[in-house]
Amino acid sequence: MKCLADLLTQTECHLTPLEVAIRGERIALNSFFLKDSQLAIPVFSPVDSDYDIADKIASFLPHLASQNRLNRLAVQNTVLGPCSAQRIAILFSGGPAPGGHNVVAGLLQLLSPNHTVLGILGGPGGFSAGEVKELTLADGEAYFNSGGFNWLGTDRTKLTTPAQIAQVKSFVRDHRLSGLVVIGGDDSNTNAAVLANELIDLDCTVVGVPKTIDGDVCYRDQLPISFGFDTATKLYSELVGNLMQDAQSVKKYWHFVKLMGRDTSHVTLEVALQTKPTITLITEEIIDRKQSLSDIIDYIVSIIKARYDRNLSYGVIVIPEGLIEHISDDIVHFLTDYNDTDFMKSYDDHGHRALSAVPTEALLGRCVQYALKESDVVFQPRYHSFGYEGRCGVPTRFDAWYAYHLGLTAGALVLGGHTGYMAAFNALPVGGEPLGIPLIGLFESFRSDACDRFAIKRAPVDLASPAFTYFQSRRQAWSDSDCFTSPGPIQLYGPLASQFPITVALNQGYESLDIFGALVQ
Ligand code: FBP
Repeated sequence: MKCLADLLTQTECHLTPLEVAIRGERIALNSFFLKDSQLAIPVFSPVDSDYDIADKIASFLPHLASQNRLNRLAVQNTVLGPCSAQRIAILFSGGPAPGGHNVVAGLLQLLSPNHTVLGILGGPGGFSAGEVKELTLADGEAYFNSGGFNWLGTDRTKLTTPAQIAQVKSFVRDHRLSGLVVIGGDDSNTNAAVLANELIDLDCTVVGVPKTIDGDVCYRDQLPISFGFDTATKLYSELVGNLMQDAQSVKKYWHFVKLMGRDTSHVTLEVALQTKPTITLITEEIIDRKQSLSDIIDYIVSIIKARYDRNLSYGVIVIPEGLIEHISDDIVHFLTDYNDTDFMKSYDDHGHRALSAVPTEALLGRCVQYALKESDVVFQPRYHSFGYEGRCGVPTRFDAWYAYHLGLTAGALVLGGHTGYMAAFNALPVGGEPLGIPLIGLFESFRSDACDRFAIKRAPVDLASPAFTYFQSRRQAWSDSDCFTSPGPIQLYGPLASQFPITVALNQGYESLDIFGALVQ
């Protein structure tokens, strides 16, 4: 028998037993991709258009605003391939999200071997670097069901200048592309729409795939969620649940936990519904109520004091990372005290502050400490920030299935020549239905630096939604006494493996959290 040291050495730079097992899994195909028990290609046709497109946006994307590109696309029928061979490129864009590799695997599954699929390396910045590689089904198997975007790499390059657009055009010509698939969030799909508009003359179809752990690329019942949200929120929920167990065990710490999610609070709301923290801050509600930093501190302090009076000197507070944008003016003097304001000045290519670098949790804890100074309350804060930990996890069963089907849908849209569309999947409780949403229908215009700007709108937490309303009705009870729940690690096998995000289930009116029990074996 081999000794343990030998076995460990053998796995260096190789797959672990779990990775081997999940690479070997197969995804049960949705019925829209099956004909006579074989993989088939859905054919889309326009159904309706309920998008409110402002004139300004229409003139920004004139080709996409033409009438025949404003309709939602639904599956009309399904055909067995092959059609004439095409060359299609795919890239990741923005932050990683679990399931990305399965999007590429799904696309390869649909297009191979009749068509050529090229991976653009290094995200949208890869158009200028020009590094591409031809992807095969075997590559797909090697990365299948794995987290991260390391297969192709990613970045946040914004494609707007005439020089950049010219570069993309020559890339498309050089590689004789008839299709381009952009896997990204709001900014990346904004890029996709700009490119779709620009590449019409070259007959290159551009399709976007909704990715982001932030959960803010969604649209009514047409697009319930982006891929990656489920895995990231389950990972964070496990960690928050563990902190709750710790808080209840030692009974002396207040854990302040900042969660990723940029300026929307979907991640925080989902983690709150999964774990039932003592205090949950939701940025959208704070803005709606016009609450200042001192209102927030008063709220936290009142709960800490009330619990202290009942011998509960501990708790867990979850905080969305985007909150800092709305209280930064108030909080600046604390930063000045630390003589450390530089991290507030770091911005990405799309003009977003590097929020993950701002220690909002510690700044709030410090403010609470000051507010409690004159009281006899014993307050011991501990600080945590969960963000990058959740972006590259092994995808949950839901994300693995969902992302794969988004890849299949993107492939079918490209083959159908439907440019300027986002691949979407809805009607999840009945097994899912692929559709195409016009990217232009998701745009908003706004003023910035005295100029009109256009971008895909990030969907905020809707304060009238069933998920928020449920949270609102429970949070007082969660503060008064310990209602903590600790969901534990993500389950890839067994009866709990197919659980679905609670916010999505509540908001879409689904009756169960386990809708994929029947689909995912
Ligand atoms: P995407 O919108 O590109 O998916 O990225 C979201 C996110 O994970 C945010 O939650 C976070 O604020 C940001 O990326 C941090 O990104 P980075 O440090 O990689 O630029």
